[in-house]
Amino acid sequence: MSGPQPTETPPTEPPPTETPFAGVARTGAPPGRAGLEPPGPARPPLLPAADVDDAVTTFMRASPMTRRWDVEQDIDWDRADAGRLSAGQRSAVEFITLIEDHLPGYFALYGRRFPLTDEVDLDTFVHNREVYRFSVRWAQEEDTHARALFRYQVASGLAEPEALRRSLAVEGRKLFTLPHGHAVSIFAYALVQEKATQLYYQQLRAVVDDPVLADVLTRLSRDEARHFTFFADVVERYLVRYGDAVVEPIRDVVAQFRMPLADTMRGYWRWALRIADVAAYDHTDAYEHLIRVVTRAADARSDRVDELIHFVGACRATAIA
Ligand SMILES: [Fe+2]
Ligand SMILES: [Fe+2]
Repeated sequence: MSGPQPTETPPTEPPPTETPFAGVARTGAPPGRAGLEPPGPARPPLLPAADVDDAVTTFMRASPMTRRWDVEQDIDWDRADAGRLSAGQRSAVEFITLIEDHLPGYFALYGRRFPLTDEVDLDTFVHNREVYRFSVRWAQEEDTHARALFRYQVASGLAEPEALRRSLAVEGRKLFTLPHGHAVSIFAYALVQEKATQLYYQQLRAVVDDPVLADVLTRLSRDEARHFTFFADVVERYLVRYGDAVVEPIRDVVAQFRMPLADTMRGYWRWALRIADVAAYDHTDAYEHLIRVVTRAADARSDRVDELIHFVGACRATAIA
């Protein structure tokens, strides 16, 4: 479980020193607060569309047709047996199903923050179009995760389909928001969240006794690892190109981090504690990976980059203390 949150400093939004697409934020989005989403498109700076294209192409190359998996064909559902799981493990499966099943909410956020309408100027649209090429593939993969976990619950005897559909809908209807204004913050949030999820699935897989669930978790954690690699690539490109100008938006992500649904799911923290004996769903596990990305990107480390690395490391240390 995540430990005490780091001391939060009020989010500051200094004007970006470099705004290649100055027309992007027509609404002049104000600083965000946890649980509230700044209105309008994500704030610059934005990567050049060609850079996003490079990152997307690398991501696509890592998942050619021959290496993708299929819910219907690739898993032996007849052997699924929730009777082999402990009560805590069954709770964990229910929990991760809820998190994955919220995909429409996560995907909608990309539509709001990187719109493909005349709400944005032409350069921003060109950038957002490249982001969409990733997000639509990513969404397809995440929905596969949701379907696989739903199928596991039903096939293993953990849930009845109609009751499960309705219970997922209770949370699924709630709006998913992020409190960050900057585009780079949205990518940095996803970097941490994908890595934390990958690590959680690996930990859970190591302790479950049902080989069908282990198979599902192996496939999910591999996908999350690829998703993390994409977001790490994008955040690294931001740091290389914009340096100190994107340090504060990345710091804000760590200062305000909540796992998806932590603010909206009824009983989230009670639930998270209940499954802690199985494996901790701890986003700070991902921080060392964020530090690696920052370190790799920083050629000549400035004071601000150093401070960011210290801050992220301190949040990790606080959480495991
Ligand atoms: Fe997923
Ligand atoms: Fe993912």
